[in-house]
Amino acid sequence: MTLRSAALFREHLGDPTGAVVARAPGRVNLIGEHTDYNDGFVLPTIVDRHVEVVARRRSDRKVRIVAADLGERRENDLDDPIDYANSGWLPYVLGVVHELTQRGRIESGVDIAFWGTVPRGAGLSSSAGLEVATALALDAVFNLWLNPIEMARLCRDVEHRYAGVRCGIMDQFASRLGRSDNALLIDCRSLDARHVPMPLDGHRLVIVDSGVRREPADSTVNQRRTECEEAVALLREVESSITSLRDVTLDMLAKHENILPPDLFARCRHVVSENHRVLEACESLANKDLPAFGRLMIASHFSLRNDFEVSHPAVDRLVEEAIQVDGVLGARLTGAGFGGCMVSLVKQTALPDLEQRMQPLIDDWSVRSIVIRAPEKARVTEVIA
Ligand code: GLA
Repeated sequence: MTLRSAALFREHLGDPTGAVVARAPGRVNLIGEHTDYNDGFVLPTIVDRHVEVVARRRSDRKVRIVAADLGERRENDLDDPIDYANSGWLPYVLGVVHELTQRGRIESGVDIAFWGTVPRGAGLSSSAGLEVATALALDAVFNLWLNPIEMARLCRDVEHRYAGVRCGIMDQFASRLGRSDNALLIDCRSLDARHVPMPLDGHRLVIVDSGVRREPADSTVNQRRTECEEAVALLREVESSITSLRDVTLDMLAKHENILPPDLFARCRHVVSENHRVLEACESLANKDLPAFGRLMIASHFSLRNDFEVSHPAVDRLVEEAIQVDGVLGARLTGAGFGGCMVSLVKQTALPDLEQRMQPLIDDWSVRSIVIRAPEKARVTEVIA
């Protein structure tokens, strides 16, 4: 790895001596979709695809950034005003630099090169991986000593301020704190989190990419977040203790159905029931009851499709076909939606059958599927000598 990182940095930005190499994985959400920005529960895990960032401090105030596998390059001054609108990967890298500068943590320029293996725009958090890898590298370069939760929050703030996406904290939290063989239960209200061992023996998590991309990629989250806030405002008129959908129960919803327009009622029903499913999913893992976990995944999918209305026919098709396969315990849309990926829980022996079933729906199984095997947690991997 040293050789590749050092060689790439040298090729694009010059002498890599002293540069820090950091990596952060993408994540797949197992259950708990669109609950994070409603103060709810989520249960993601990391995938064995990552983003790698190499960063080296400069003595002036220049920032040079190279997206090595896109062949793109950007150069500006730390003090330049930047227009981040429609600027691709820029907010996820320069946004982190800017945010740290604004907070008075960085006072000199930096050279950064990055590349990665997380598919872009597929709902597997390539952007959170890039933010977290950048933050980890800068943390080491500038001796910032950010704790992992602070770092996840910083990256979430970057997404809000520079990318314009009012996301929750799941993606950045999962990328920064996730571990292999464990799911991460996050209470997005308190930010308490717990690693939940996944007793997968003989089973695999398999991701299949529908290939459908929503444009602009993240408008889903902003739209649905606004709807959830509208619903909370209406519910507050009758139950003043409600500050987010986390405070709402299914009973309350049933009681106040008449004050919510039908689409907002359905959005709330998804979020409230999804929070329950996350907690039940943790219990089923603790009980080593994978069939129960799988059933919850399927219920989550139909709730996302029918109530939250963020699925896409291409992903519905993948899920419907996958759950016909003997040995597929569960499957669902994962990520923000309107395309992207399906995640499924599959008996290892059923993998060939799943592949065969998916093949007519996707161009190339080897390109469009990920069988999670050995993900690596976020970390600084080295300092180039
Ligand atoms: C995107 C957002 C997350 C979360 C998911 C939906 O990935 O970035 O914060 O809201 O969508 O669960």
